[in-house]
Amino acid sequence: MTGSAALHLDPAFVVAPVRRRIFGSFVEHMGRCVYTGIYEPGHPTADADGFRGDVLDLVRELGVSVIRYPGGNFVSGYRWEDGIGPAAERPVRRDLAWHTLETNAVGIDEFARWAKRADVEVMYSFNLGTRGIEEALDAHEYINHEKGTALSDLRRTNGSDTPYGVRLFCLGNEMDGPWQTGHKTAHEYGRLAAEVARALRSAEPDLELVACGSSGSEMPTFGAWEAEVLELTYDQVDYISAHAYYEPLDGDLGSFLASGVDMDHFIDSVVATADSVGARLKSPKKINISFDEWNVWYQSRFTNEGPGDDWIAAKPLIEDVYNVADAVVVGGLLISLLRHSDRVGVACLAQLVNVIAPVMTEADGPSWRQTIFHPFAITSRLAQGVVLRVEPHCDTYVTSRYGEVPQLDAAATYDEKTGDVTVFALNRNTEQTLTLATALTGFGDLQVAESWVLGGGDPYLTNTKDEPDRVAPVALESARVVDGALQADLPPISWCAIRLTTTG
Ligand code: AHR
Repeated sequence: MTGSAALHLDPAFVVAPVRRRIFGSFVEHMGRCVYTGIYEPGHPTADADGFRGDVLDLVRELGVSVIRYPGGNFVSGYRWEDGIGPAAERPVRRDLAWHTLETNAVGIDEFARWAKRADVEVMYSFNLGTRGIEEALDAHEYINHEKGTALSDLRRTNGSDTPYGVRLFCLGNEMDGPWQTGHKTAHEYGRLAAEVARALRSAEPDLELVACGSSGSEMPTFGAWEAEVLELTYDQVDYISAHAYYEPLDGDLGSFLASGVDMDHFIDSVVATADSVGARLKSPKKINISFDEWNVWYQSRFTNEGPGDDWIAAKPLIEDVYNVADAVVVGGLLISLLRHSDRVGVACLAQLVNVIAPVMTEADGPSWRQTIFHPFAITSRLAQGVVLRVEPHCDTYVTSRYGEVPQLDAAATYDEKTGDVTVFALNRNTEQTLTLATALTGFGDLQVAESWVLGGGDPYLTNTKDEPDRVAPVALESARVVDGALQADLPPISWCAIRLTTTG
């Protein structure tokens, strides 16, 4: 059985430029993301600074643009100055967020050096849980002030004459969450964030600052939190954050495959809330979204051990092994983010290595790509130029979590410089192939330059250390241009990307 779906693409129907920062990721001092993830002195591929070369290669291949650091829940108890200076003198601390030990072997100097090697922008989070204005100013002085002050000169003594030039800063993390060290009411947080932002802007006016939104759209205060925080910070910040994690509940694949519907609704709700605050304040300014944590995360399997039972460093935490269906969902969430390029300026796949991650490592062993690596890498590489409006026509199906949803989800980009048009599409149907017909007008003669599909077989297949390439995208042989229209057969539970290019 097959179903059908139709799209119409035209270069005149532009949503917004592709924002490269939506291909961001997240490195938290959590589990094995840093230690035995990006950093493992003594590993056969490690460089002089202890960074794993195999991981750096995979991060470059993933096509990550910006990385949020150093947390996450971790940051709300973090003392940034523990992580600078001679390694042997750095204190070991308890990390209350994850009940582990933090050795501080890696701090901002090491991470900035690593980021340069990985060719990614740093997005730095301040601790607004246990700390406040003074520490944020100190960390900013250390990171961005050129020279001639106590902390900029300390950075120079520690080996970095050139400031790190960080533009994007998060004002805390998930401050509405009762699990957060130093969590706050919206009023308490909004006032603190506004004053931290004001102080930072006195030092460097053109920073881009992210206020914490709700830690999830299911929080009882969702919406009200965003409104109150933005009332207090509107003139001082540029972004409000959003976080979302998805997983199949009770084996309900149909709802899980429609996770993008939830992300669409989440983004639209935050945009509406931010714009209503802007309207009340009679401000011409728009606050955009930093979707700085998103992914599939099997939270129902997660139990964090209680305090004090095993204070060890680099304890493996939430090392979810992803399957084909998870990768299809990740591809779908990227489609949602692309579709909202007019209002989502930053997005971070959480996290980068080992901790709910596209890249896995074994200590003193190999690294490999999880299934979710592939849609991210392909979308980051192929989404260029502008995002085009896509209005799919297709059948729907009924889900228990989101009601009636379309079987197809799709986004498209157009690069005027190269003439390339790329279609990203998801078939959510668990049984039927979808025959996609895409009318193409105003682009000239196009032909298929490359096509990729992931899925269509066993949705539960995974990659492992011993079988690292069991799940990998293959060419979508059915993709072809016939009479000016792109045709392709999308197998059940699949994600695909098709790049078209001009013939002459
Ligand atoms: O990414 C894992 C955790 O999820 C982060 O530390 C926190 O911000 C979120 O709740």
